[in-house]
Order: sequence, then structure tokens, then C-alpha cells
Amino acid sequence: MLKEIADWRSIRKFDPTKPVTNEQLISVLNAGRRAPSWKNLQPWKFIAIRKETDKLKLSEAFSMGVLIRKAPAVILCVGLLEAWVKTHQRDRLKELLHHRGFNMSEEEIDKMYLDHELAQALAIKPSALMARTFENMGIAYGFMLLEAMNQGLGACVVGETANELIVENNSKYNEIKQYFGLNESQFITAAIVLGVPQKNEALNPRKPVEETYVLF
Ligand SMILES: Cc1cc2nc3c(=O)[nH]c(=O)nc-3n(C[C@H](O)[C@H](O)[C@H](O)COP(=O)(O)O)c2cc1C
Repeated sequence: MLKEIADWRSIRKFDPTKPVTNEQLISVLNAGRRAPSWKNLQPWKFIAIRKETDKLKLSEAFSMGVLIRKAPAVILCVGLLEAWVKTHQRDRLKELLHHRGFNMSEEEIDKMYLDHELAQALAIKPSALMARTFENMGIAYGFMLLEAMNQGLGACVVGETANELIVENNSKYNEIKQYFGLNESQFITAAIVLGVPQKNEALNPRKPVEETYVLF
């Protein structure tokens, strides 16, 4: 097993005297960029935050705002519903297929991928698009967490936040979104806090193997 996986633990307390360097942050962001996604849609955007004023503003969207305020660096993870628009899906698929040596016309791409009844059912159901966006985001979080550890950092996903899943027309949330330049089809999914760990945390328990996986 990868060392970063075997040793994984969420870190919430950081050494305030040790900053996260540009190189470390870029490496973590690039790990998120490398994550796999549905039709290579990459329905995400990551905003790296280190300024106190920005952390303070973002912390207002989280139940555990103190984690955001006290972290040397924070990656604001943004899901993009706009990534599921048919023209964007077609463009990404075209690019992907071309890269793999298949030159398909837009009509062929539509027929083979986008006009399938399951693809159409997904495209018209906002709750399904939201769920699929979160699914993809989760993989990107995982990539970033492991790379953070590889960079000698500790990290934790902080997911209890105001967003379109739980608030409607909330002026505070809208103000925070506006502050970070997010539009209507972009929403906060989580923040990843990063820094040099203050102390070595113990590993957390997991459900027993028998309740977790089956080997047929
Ligand atoms: C999607 C997601 C959201 C999470 N949200 C929070 C959170 O809001 N606050 C928090 O303290 N930890 C949060 N965590 C961290 C979990 O509590 C932690 O992963 C879990 O307890 C297992 O501990 P470990 O990561 O140290 O193994 C989140 C983790 C994930 C994957």
C-alpha cells in the first residue's frame, strides 16, 4: 500500500510558525487537477487561500470556521454545475477522443454518448448533477490529501458548509460566493485545510474488514 494511504490521518491543528510554500501548494493543486472525472469533465475549480482576510471571509460559510481561520493554507473546493452543459460535455469528449486517436464528429459523439437515455436523464435532473459533481470532487479531494502528505503537510477536508444543498437564497452565502468570484452554477463543496502538523496524530479506527469488503 502507498505509505500516504497507510499513514493517513486528518490533521486539524497546524504549526502557526510554518507556512505552506508556493511549491507545496501548487503540487497539491496539480494533484487535484490530475484526478479522474466523468467524461473528463473536471467539474471543479480550486481556490488557494492564504491571506487572513480571505480566510476570515470563507470561515463564515463553515460550522467549524475556526479550522479555516487557523490553517496556514486553505483550498476552497468549488463544484461546477456548468460542466454538465451539453456543449461543454461534447467539447471535453471531443478533446479526449482526439487525444486518444479517435476523430469523431459532433453528431457521432452525441449519438454515441450524449443522446443515450441515461445521459439525458442525468442532464435534466439537478439533484443527480449535484450528486455526480460531489462524486467527482471527492476523488479530487483524495488526490490532494495524499499529495499534501507527500509534501510533508497535514490536511483535512472540512465539509460542513453552507451551499446549494442546504441553503436557498441565503444572503450571507451569496455574499461569500460573490467575494470569491463564484457564479450561480458554481458552489462550495468543501474546504481542505493544510499546514505543517503541530503534533503527530494517532490513526483513526475503521469499520471491521468483514463489514467493509467482501472477497468473492
Ligand atoms: C467529505 C468529508 C468531509 C469532512 N468534513 C469534516 C468537517 O466538516 N470537519 C471535520 O473536523 N472533519 C471533517 N472531515 C474529516 C473526517 O472527520 C475524518 O476523515 C474521519 O473522522 C476519519 O478520520 P481520519 O481522516 O483521520 O482517518 C471530513 C472528511 C470528508 C472526507
